Amino acid sequence: MKIIGGPASQLLASRVARELGADPILCDFNRFPDGEVYTRIQDEHINDVTIIQSTTTDSDLVYLLQMIDACEDASSINVVIPYMGYARQDKKFKTGEPISARAVARTINADRLNRIFTVNIHEKSVLDYFSTTASDLDASKLMGSHLGSLNLTDTLVIAPDSGAISLAESAAANLGMDCDYLEKTRISGDKVAIKTKEMDVTGRDVVLIDDMIATGSTMAESIRLLRDQGAKDVYIACVHPVLTRNAVIRLFNAGVRDIFATDTIEKAQSCVSVAPLIADAIRIL
Ligand code: R5P
Repeated sequence: MKIIGGPASQLLASRVARELGADPILCDFNRFPDGEVYTRIQDEHINDVTIIQSTTTDSDLVYLLQMIDACEDASSINVVIPYMGYARQDKKFKTGEPISARAVARTINADRLNRIFTVNIHEKSVLDYFSTTASDLDASKLMGSHLGSLNLTDTLVIAPDSGAISLAESAAANLGMDCDYLEKTRISGDKVAIKTKEMDVTGRDVVLIDDMIATGSTMAESIRLLRDQGAKDVYIACVHPVLTRNAVIRLFNAGVRDIFATDTIEKAQSCVSVAPLIADAIRIL
């Protein structure tokens, strides 16, 4: 099995390769003068291959398509998309809109495509849009282990909306921490309203956990609310640190103590690696 790491997942692919005792293949990733992206795999003998590439930007998606196409002579191609962009556009919210997640999934195709893996994809029904068997890997236990190592006391793990409660419960399982969720209403792309339920956070350490942080609006509102209610330190955790626009500054302005995330997107906050999860999934193929 050979491992190819795309430009968005070089560190993660190297970690997966190390777990599997393999060397990642070197590739050239470049741009033509007009901005189009260019890929060349520096290995002429590709047989059984796993390509690892998050699709955080549109260019990342094109690099992934190019890597898959360049491997067309392989006997088996597995694709790992640790963070799949557009997965939040999983339905038509207004008439005339595309289902962007479906459009993206349909482009990821090849004759020898064997398996596709994602990590905590925003909406699991998106997996059905791929042309081959696609499975979602769950990083919540790895995040839970990191949470346990922080030595927090009287900790409450809170999801910012009901959609993230299973992630919160799974991360907190085995740690003996209480779990709850807030009530979120999205007003626009970067504005949300958060309401609390009946929960006593006075003097307690709180960990807010979600599948992703994009603009940081959800978490910033949640942090303010919890601190107003007397929470001690508020930490935030997410699988996918998209952290776009001024997200990090907004979170620190809101009073967050620290931010931790996984390496599905490689950022300074990515202190939990999903490499063991991906390596285990590939190992049993
Ligand atoms: C939405 O349902 C997701 O789980 C996140 O809560 C959301 O994407 C976070 O976005 P933002 O950071 O822009 O509030």
